[in-house]
Amino acid sequence: MRYSLILLLSLIFHAAQALNISHLRVEHLENPIGIDFENPRFSWVLESKEMAVVQEAYELEIFENGERIWHSGKKKSDNCYLVETDFKPQPKTRYQWQVRVWDNHKNTAQSAKTYFETGLMQLPFEAKWIAAPWDENPRDQNPVWCLRKEFTVTDKAEFARVYATAYGMYEIFINGIRLGNRELAPGWSSYGKRLKYQTYEVDEMLNIGQNVLSVRLAQGWYQGRIGYRGKNDENKNHMALLLQLEINNNDGSISKTTTDESWRIGTGGLRVASIYDGEVFDDRYESEGWNTARFDDSRWEQAKVLDLGYANLVADDEPPVTVIGSMNTVSQIVLDNNEVVYDFGQNLVGRVQLELNIAKPAEIVIEHAEILDENGEFYTDNLRSAKAAVVLRLSKKGQIQYTPSFTYMGFRYVRISGIAPSEIKAVHAQILSSQLERIGVFSCSDKMINRLYSNITWSQLGNFIDVPTDCPQRDERLGWTGDAQVFSTTAAYNMNVAAFFREWLANLAADQYADGAVPWVVPDVFQSERFPATGWADAATIIPWNMYAFYNDKRMLSESYPAMKKWVDFMLNNSHDNLWFGTTHFGDWLSYNPDDDREGKAAVTEKELLAQMFFMHSLDIMVKSASALQNAKDEEMYAAKFMQAQKAFLDEFVTPNGRLVSGTQTAYTLALAFDLLPENLRQQAADRLATNVRSYNHISTGFLGTPHISAVLSRYGYSNLAYMLLTRTEYPSWLYPVKMGATTIWERWDGVKTDSTLQNPTMNSFNHYAYGAIGSWLMGNVAGIKPMKHAEASEAGFKHFVIAPEINEALSFVNASYYSSYGLIATKWMQNGGRLTLSFIIPCNTKADVVFPENYNFFALKQYENEVESMVNFTNPPKGSLTLGSGTYLIEFMPAPAD
Ligand code: BGC
Repeated sequence: MRYSLILLLSLIFHAAQALNISHLRVEHLENPIGIDFENPRFSWVLESKEMAVVQEAYELEIFENGERIWHSGKKKSDNCYLVETDFKPQPKTRYQWQVRVWDNHKNTAQSAKTYFETGLMQLPFEAKWIAAPWDENPRDQNPVWCLRKEFTVTDKAEFARVYATAYGMYEIFINGIRLGNRELAPGWSSYGKRLKYQTYEVDEMLNIGQNVLSVRLAQGWYQGRIGYRGKNDENKNHMALLLQLEINNNDGSISKTTTDESWRIGTGGLRVASIYDGEVFDDRYESEGWNTARFDDSRWEQAKVLDLGYANLVADDEPPVTVIGSMNTVSQIVLDNNEVVYDFGQNLVGRVQLELNIAKPAEIVIEHAEILDENGEFYTDNLRSAKAAVVLRLSKKGQIQYTPSFTYMGFRYVRISGIAPSEIKAVHAQILSSQLERIGVFSCSDKMINRLYSNITWSQLGNFIDVPTDCPQRDERLGWTGDAQVFSTTAAYNMNVAAFFREWLANLAADQYADGAVPWVVPDVFQSERFPATGWADAATIIPWNMYAFYNDKRMLSESYPAMKKWVDFMLNNSHDNLWFGTTHFGDWLSYNPDDDREGKAAVTEKELLAQMFFMHSLDIMVKSASALQNAKDEEMYAAKFMQAQKAFLDEFVTPNGRLVSGTQTAYTLALAFDLLPENLRQQAADRLATNVRSYNHISTGFLGTPHISAVLSRYGYSNLAYMLLTRTEYPSWLYPVKMGATTIWERWDGVKTDSTLQNPTMNSFNHYAYGAIGSWLMGNVAGIKPMKHAEASEAGFKHFVIAPEINEALSFVNASYYSSYGLIATKWMQNGGRLTLSFIIPCNTKADVVFPENYNFFALKQYENEVESMVNFTNPPKGSLTLGSGTYLIEFMPAPAD
């Protein structure tokens, strides 16, 4: 019924809808405002119900105030992604743009108009940096500052913007109303070198007459407690605000209100605001109406102007952190002492929203926990020194709503004390994350695997908070390079992370040491850790390369290239006889390590072997990157270095028969994943890996081996073993935490041990995405959607990609989709009584190599044009694979007769 309705509708609208254009993006961003690209690139997606659709030409038009100011003319090209133009935008300008497309079926379509807006670009900030005139110790937890400035508006604004940033964490209000939906602004970056400023559209927020700009400024990542050693870098002494309101009036004049010595400053009810520790709010300090125009600020002080310069300011070109959703509690328990414990049913990252009705003055404490211990007790030991609590000191009776502003927590449970349970009216959770487009979806016939996939997504959401962090709850929450490296491919399958990683990689480059060493964490809050760790520092090469594989963005790759080169040159400069050993490594972090190891079962991989393998892998990435960027000189030079390093590797770590000095899963996995062994030694290495996996009957890898083991097993003919690892539910395995009730990915294979006791609290996060790196195998192999690069071919991105699902009896169906830069890719396979059907969608303007599963014979191909099924008859049934253009297809396979 539904089908015929769709058919009918599609026939009616056929003429009008033959081709459609959607997903207009500028530099990977949807309708961005305040961006500073000199030559922004434009992307769009074609949608059509016809088969094998290719764009033949396009015309791009740019408008300002409704008037066309630039157009490309009709350009013959099949490029619809990151299209370069010679258009040079001006600062502080909103542009509309649209595109017309012609395809190979004689259809044409015009997109709707969309926009982008530039920030200050090369124009200097006219505002001055301002701060409190009083002395505070930057190492203390100081009250949040409140700043305000009244101004008059005489006419209706044509275009009004606030450009702002801070050393600290800010919220801005006009006439008491918050600007934008961005949280934790200005975000986290390597402040001394890159401080992001934001642009807010405020046209509709101004009143004719008196107005007030007000700002709350907290210590945030900048001055607050960050980094578990309690170190603050030397530049954190000056919290400060920089803000510029510009109003283009109807009469053509421009009025400006900027931060300067005329601003007033005080403090309010927020006595403490800390990322790790939470907030302390005391209503006795709160000045009623301080952010409205009626407030008398004469008792406040005058702000002090600081000369902090502007050289490190950059436009914020990545998706902001926002509230991406909310959750209700699923249960609550009132304890004997009147404390109430709420369960959200999901380990999440964000903040609690409370509604209380206070009967008498009270001090209310809201604590957060990820887990209950084996006795069902609220458990916070694994937060280490992070207090992760909200304290409300309330002197007045009555209703109050409270949501923290300058902190976030990782939690599934909250405990509220200091108040009668009947005074708690509502408890909700706000979910915080960088606002990234969700583009990957995976489901299959196994509910536990679906939960695993959901856990991966939750851990990504909770740890992609402006920078990719290791964990969101304890006194750490840092941009650990290794964690981001191992998870980056899975991250790119799940969400559009192009702009997110572009920004983080710019920080990595900014924080890289002069000699090329890459810090452990970015932003580099440890500062003095000068020992680049293998597999961690290689984030400098591996992440740009993974992003290139997914996004085919050469500009992004070339932006990272100098840092990639510096890192690899650091290893070359510090190698001896072509071996890079380094000094301090984390190794294959948290690999399988049983307590009672008399059988020698621990899976410890020699660190020097790991270092040499990552050294070679980074060299190899340089060869490929240099080739992609047409830098023949570097390509040749790094290829020669790779050969030398490979010779040293074989002499030092590999026997002539191909045995590695560490016979671990991780050692063989990495040697094969990175193509480090000569061809003739590869299959035997894979066989050794398989033997090892069988001898354990489980995974034994740590952070470094885990992302690759399944794909290596698949590639060398051991897909069955990869499936065994996936579907195993005993410790250690991906599904063991699921069986134990995990709703996010755990830091350790056994965060909760088999006897239900908890691992050592000094390192036991229940929201650490690293082991979630299996996500890339689920999407790339089980569902079979792969960018060419991951299929070891020369093309990057999804203009030409691979569909190659690995069918296994463990699953009866798999259903996945990935919204690529060209549009929707989907695969679905189903097996029933030996028959296999594989249906898939290939987006317009792309083609895919569809690789047939093993042990099946190709039977029939159906395609759906305008929702109508047609059968394609082959006189010679294809073998092995088919290359197909865009469309919706279904292939049927029959089991191949056994030999
Ligand atoms: C973090 C990790 C990180 C590691 C370095 C830990 O404290 O949580 O995820 O990669 O240190 O070994």
